[in-house]
Amino acid sequence: EVYRASTYAPVNIAVIKYWGKRDPKLNLPTNSSLSVTLSQDDLRTHTTASCSSSTPHDSLILNGHDQDISGARTQACLHDLRQHRQQLESSDPSLPKLSTMKLKLVSENNFPTAAGLASSAAGFAALVRAIADLYALPLTPTQLSRIARQGSGSACRSLMGGYVAWEKGTAADGSDSVAYEVAPAHHWLEMRALILVASAAKKDVSSTAGMQQTVASSSLFEKRVDEVVPKRMKAMEKAVQERDFEAFARLSMKDSNNFHACCLDTDPPIFYMNDTSRCAVRLCEAINSHHETQSGKAGAICAYTFDAGPNAVVYYLADNEQAVAGLFKGILQGKEGWEGKRGGSVKEKED
Ligand code: DP6
Repeated sequence: EVYRASTYAPVNIAVIKYWGKRDPKLNLPTNSSLSVTLSQDDLRTHTTASCSSSTPHDSLILNGHDQDISGARTQACLHDLRQHRQQLESSDPSLPKLSTMKLKLVSENNFPTAAGLASSAAGFAALVRAIADLYALPLTPTQLSRIARQGSGSACRSLMGGYVAWEKGTAADGSDSVAYEVAPAHHWLEMRALILVASAAKKDVSSTAGMQQTVASSSLFEKRVDEVVPKRMKAMEKAVQERDFEAFARLSMKDSNNFHACCLDTDPPIFYMNDTSRCAVRLCEAINSHHETQSGKAGAICAYTFDAGPNAVVYYLADNEQAVAGLFKGILQGKEGWEGKRGGSVKEKED
């Protein structure tokens, strides 16, 4: 008999960035972070987990290609999930012994892998939930987030919809380093994300390597961790609670710039943004100041943010679809450097 379960996990895009580990082995971060989970109609990973007594070995196929899963991070996730299943099996001997069978994992991303489009976040979130479903584990999204975090830090935020924070935690074993929902998607359903693919190429420096170089060499980063992010996390949670787009936008842009400044302050410096990225920054600034002039009052209507790559994510509210997404598409469509674009909305809570 073949046992099988499938799931989707969407991409999340941080507005307060995770950058830096205090414990690389357990994947514990130096600071808390906050993100918006996109709708799973947009960028997502679909994963099917199956097992049978004749499955020869653990394997993962991503977009048709065999992946190496011998790494400590994937192994940590598999180990924890199997252990949970074992507990179930020992308390109910009638259950099939899935924990002893090898796993076959088949994943598909509908977007470029490792191009700074948070592919590892959706990837590990889908992997962990697919196996948890296959094993019928009675775990909450927060408990799953603790497991997924070991695969890739940002993955812990993709197990919940809407507005999600990852609390850095203080425990040495990582037990309190988990994701929680700041607000469900329906709290602020008007939020939209435009993803501008400046380059779909694989990034130069992986986030895992880049952030450790920053931790080791940037003095700007110390201030980010000690002062900047703790204040900003509070302000961002408040902005989300109050649906204050102006505050949300200013904080997002400032945090993205602070994170990229820390990358530049790294030895050797890391450049994730390129000329095309900077063009998107200027366009956002121009849209915001045009809006202020027109309306006669202060208030941003769009916010850019960049992860560990040149692609821009622009957040705006549905009412400003034309003023923001319309303008971006009109100006940038077909221009050199832009390989594509996707719109997105906020993901509703898991059913
Ligand atoms: C810039 O989660 O990919 O996207 O934990 O080493 O797998 P690992 O790193 P990863 O880093 C994401 C960094 C970021 C910011 C963010 O998503 O918060």
